[in-house]
Amino acid sequence: MCGIVGYIGTQAATEILISGLERLEYRGYDSAGVATVLEGKINCVRAKGKLYNLREKVEREHNPAQIGIGHTRWATHGKPEEHNAHPHMDAAMGVAVVQNGIIENYRELKEELISKGYEFKSETDTEVIPHLIADCLTNSQHSLLDAVRQIIPRLEGAFAIAVISADHPYELVVARQQAPLILGFGQGEFFCASDITALVPHTHTVLSLDNGEMARLSPLGVEIYNFAGDRLNKFPRTLDWNLVQVEKQGFRHYMLKEIYEQPGVVRTALEAYFNPNWHAQDNPDFSPVTLSLSPRLYEDLEHIQILACGTSWHASLIGKYLLEQLAGIPTTVDYASEFRYAPKPIIGNTLTIGVTQSGETADTIAALETEKERRANLEPKLQARLLGITNRPESTIAQLVDQIINTQAGIEIGVAATKTFVAQVMSFYFLALDLAFRRKTLPLEQIEQIITGLHQIPTQIEKTLESQANYIEELAHEFTKETEDFIFIGRGINFPIALEGALKLKEISYIHAEGYPAGEMKHGPIALLDTKVPVVAIAMPGSVYDKVLSNAQEAKARDARLIGVTSAMNAQEAAATFDDVLTVPEVEELISPILAVVPLQLLAYHIAAIKGLDVDQPRNLAKSVTVE
Ligand code: F6R
Repeated sequence: MCGIVGYIGTQAATEILISGLERLEYRGYDSAGVATVLEGKINCVRAKGKLYNLREKVEREHNPAQIGIGHTRWATHGKPEEHNAHPHMDAAMGVAVVQNGIIENYRELKEELISKGYEFKSETDTEVIPHLIADCLTNSQHSLLDAVRQIIPRLEGAFAIAVISADHPYELVVARQQAPLILGFGQGEFFCASDITALVPHTHTVLSLDNGEMARLSPLGVEIYNFAGDRLNKFPRTLDWNLVQVEKQGFRHYMLKEIYEQPGVVRTALEAYFNPNWHAQDNPDFSPVTLSLSPRLYEDLEHIQILACGTSWHASLIGKYLLEQLAGIPTTVDYASEFRYAPKPIIGNTLTIGVTQSGETADTIAALETEKERRANLEPKLQARLLGITNRPESTIAQLVDQIINTQAGIEIGVAATKTFVAQVMSFYFLALDLAFRRKTLPLEQIEQIITGLHQIPTQIEKTLESQANYIEELAHEFTKETEDFIFIGRGINFPIALEGALKLKEISYIHAEGYPAGEMKHGPIALLDTKVPVVAIAMPGSVYDKVLSNAQEAKARDARLIGVTSAMNAQEAAATFDDVLTVPEVEELISPILAVVPLQLLAYHIAAIKGLDVDQPRNLAKSVTVE
């Protein structure tokens, strides 16, 4: 969490920093600040709360400084108050620092610095850094780069930092250890940021720093070093991004825009990963799926373990269903945050998959690293085989694994994951079908039938959006005042959709919601039901349709308001059970989750929007969870 930006060049820095922070605000929005250097002095402005508070403050003064750093914060150490907002300073030496990450040993460092007479103004871990740098600069001829390099070995934890100093007005120093940091190259101006989104309006020439690397940005260029001080030769790459991906494009919220982007995302993925020349009747000896996975990842597989958090964990549960039912491979799904501290016994020939939209989730990074390390020196069949499923090919997790499936969803800005979830689920279809073909666990005709069904999904999502959006918005009004709890139920491949529907609702509308396997309701949660607790049942026609309807009837008998998600074909029948019916086009049960989730995304969105809540930046959350 937290976003950092930096600028050095020929333009006034403050506006560039603030607009960069606006594009990083999804990473945290408890407080924000910028610091610039002008005429041998640091000017630091900070504000509690959303970025517009900071913007209001900086707009009161004209500041032509051409170098600066900025930060948007998701509070870890210290409350979200102004005095804890970054940049943090050593005022005496005029050093200002922004940091994304956690300095784990900050307490010892703080005690040491206090004993030397340094005064602390915040409760943050970050404030030790400007004082350590100041201490190093005192009575020495160090450049700012050297001073930062001297103190870095003293910092334990994961961090990305940017540093400026009043005495070094042409130097911006950055360093990266386990937290993302990207450099941007313009004409006589250079940038740094936690994410490419902040750089795209200014330059498409970028370079990701790796762990253990630092850089000095000056008006003349960028020098890159490792922490040992060796100069490195690294070459920037050109992004094929465009601004459309990071603009709202007329939608009221990014979340809504991203819900409407889902047909396009699925289309792009289908084009990227299915071979259009594959036909079952030709009895082909090549896979219908063009993931280009290295044989090492799939040969002799006996087990798949998936590690993920939150919505990505829900996508992984659907993945488990597909990998087991289509490819016949025993699959486990673990919360990355739990796996790290209680890893499963090692099984041979295991493929480990990390699933993540941000590519930066600290828990998932740690779980994948645990797997890599504990298997490193074992016999070949026990060694780690790591696959990532992500939309961020430049991310830390993408670099950590052997190979990724790029889900093709592009950047997602709304904090609540929507299109990235759908794209992750699509990746599991590609993987499961590829493995099913290679392992001959499904008849070719059945593979072709599933592929045909998947090709209909983009149009079917469009139809769902067209036919349901107004109805769901209308319905949402009924849950914005008195409703405090929701229950979502589903079975089989749609049980994870119940979990996802509940998570979407609670994270943006702040209404308590739980997802359950429909058959589990009678084992406890049914006690919660009364007229005030709506129950949403995902009742897609297929093997468990009748069972879900029976479970819904049990809720109805307790006077719960019943909302059903079902296929348009079954709408009439469903109307006999449900008070409200949300329909999607007729679809095979096996691919129904991708459609069933769409009405639930809309329901959560409209409830939150009608309540006037900040849909894209819900309280206490962040898009990249880079702390444990
Ligand atoms: C919910 C949501 C979170 C993330 C979770 C994992 O809408 O977005 O639950 O799914 O924080 O994040 P990633 O996928 O970036 O690893």
